[in-house]
Amino acid sequence: MKKCLTLFGICLALGFLQSCYYDVEEELYPDTGCQTEGITFSTEILKILQNQCFSCHDAANNFGGVTLENYESLKVYIDNGSLLGAIKHEDGFSAMPKNQAPLVECDIEKMETWINAGAPNN
Ligand code: HEC
Repeated sequence: MKKCLTLFGICLALGFLQSCYYDVEEELYPDTGCQTEGITFSTEILKILQNQCFSCHDAANNFGGVTLENYESLKVYIDNGSLLGAIKHEDGFSAMPKNQAPLVECDIEKMETWINAGAPNN
C-alpha cells in the first residue's frame, strides 16, 4: 500500500513538472509567427536598414559605393535584385550584413514581402 502511494506521488510530481515545463516553454517561445502584413517602408523596412545596414551604407559611409539611405538610392539595389540577393546570401552577391550574422529570418521575410509588393514608398 505504501509503495502504491509513493508511485502515485511520483506520477503526480512528474505530471506537475511537465505542466510547468510546458508553461515555461510557451513563455520563452510565443508562437507569434512573423507578421508581414501591412508593413511599410517608413516603419519596419527603414528600421531594419537603420539597425543593420546604415553603419556601412548611409550617405556618409557609403561602403562599396552603396548608399541605402534614402528611398531613391535604395531603389537602385532593389530593382537590380542585389539587395534581396545580398541579405538572402544568394550566389553571385556579397552576403550582407558584411562579415556579420545574417538578418533574422523574420526581417528577411519582411523585406521580401515588401519588395515583392513593388517596394512602395509608404
Ligand atoms: C560592415 C559593413 C557593412 C554592413 C553592416 C552592410 N554592408 Fe552591404 N556592403 C558592404 C561593402 C564593403 C560592400 C561592397 C561589396 C563587398 O565588399 O562585399 C557592400 C555591398 C552591398 C551591396 C551590393 C552587393 C552586390 O553583390 O552587388 C548591397 C545590395 C548591400 N551591401 C546591402 C546591404 C544591406 C541590405 C545591409 C544590411 C542588411 C548591408 N549591406 C550591411 C559593407 C556592409
